[in-house]
Amino acid sequence: MTQETQHLPAKIFNTGKSDYDFPEIILGQDLGLFDTINKFYPEIWKLYKTLKNQDWDENEFDYSSCNVQFKTCDKHTYDMMVKTLAWQWEADSVASRSIAAILAPVCTSSEAWSGWVEITKNEIVHAATYSEIVRNSFDNPDDILNEILSVQEALSRLKVVTEVFNTAFEVSYDYARDRRPNDQETYNAIYMFIVGLLCMERIQFMASFAVTFGICDGTGLFQPIGKAIQKIAQDEFEVHVQYGKEVLRAMYKTDRGRTAFEQCKDKIAQMVNEVTQSEVEWTDYAFSEGRELTGVTCQMMKDWVYFSATDVARFFGIEDQMEFPIIDENPLKYMENWLNMSKVQASNQEEDTAQYKVGVMKRDDHDEVFDVDF
Ligand SMILES: [Fe+2]
Ligand SMILES: [Fe+2]
Repeated sequence: MTQETQHLPAKIFNTGKSDYDFPEIILGQDLGLFDTINKFYPEIWKLYKTLKNQDWDENEFDYSSCNVQFKTCDKHTYDMMVKTLAWQWEADSVASRSIAAILAPVCTSSEAWSGWVEITKNEIVHAATYSEIVRNSFDNPDDILNEILSVQEALSRLKVVTEVFNTAFEVSYDYARDRRPNDQETYNAIYMFIVGLLCMERIQFMASFAVTFGICDGTGLFQPIGKAIQKIAQDEFEVHVQYGKEVLRAMYKTDRGRTAFEQCKDKIAQMVNEVTQSEVEWTDYAFSEGRELTGVTCQMMKDWVYFSATDVARFFGIEDQMEFPIIDENPLKYMENWLNMSKVQASNQEEDTAQYKVGVMKRDDHDEVFDVDF
């Protein structure tokens, strides 16, 4: 009896896979065996493990003391807290379902897929945390749900990134259904999703956390909420953001990744500018109608936005295209008590910024790019 080679549907199990020694992160050959033998992206795998090991639960914190505080605090504090929670809850709701959904049809690395699924799982904890905060902090959570959805400024703050996400979503599923080729254009749309997610996590979420922690520090109120959101902020700052950078760095080492960066560079600059601008507008809104934060001015908060955006601009080496002030010194010292900033910054200096930029600076000499030790 002769043994016939079995071919299974390639998108489900790719029996003909020949790139186990170099699986591209997106849009490579479809996946076959889940592979931990060829660890091609050790940094990505490490971040996946870190996140997996620091898993936590939204009900670790007792929010009941916040119920009375929301009833008795002044109206401006109440409004600033609720408006900030509104955006955070909405943005993490988006993150909790879009990351794995958009990348499922196109991710072709076992390591990267593990990381993105773990991050998606982590975003579920984040979204559930906001939901539990609201459920436990108010007598009529349904009313607050409507109040939260009615903050139009929070929704418009999500506009820039959700549009990039939506384009990537459509491209990804068109590709899955063989309605579009595996070409550079398809690649670029997914690449821009990864950049958009980085902007949301590094610029927008950090801006939002600064308001929450400013309220907690300035008023002494809402400490359990502060503690829970601190966990979220650390997940984002120490893992998600680093993960996004690591993926982009790995992509840049490939022909298509480098072409994507070159072709999308202006779009990236535009997105960083637009996201930053929308954060500045939000900050003006947050500090309008008499709302204020003890010890933090509206300008300090905007400088924090610029400081966060500067990190993204430097990562891509696009500072010269930025329409906002480049700020390298942290204007909100209290954030260092809430985030492990020095730890991350130190490793950034060694790994991130310089390395991505080295490649960028040498982009005219393609052969040399691969000589650079990433
Ligand atoms: Fe999150
Ligand atoms: Fe995140």
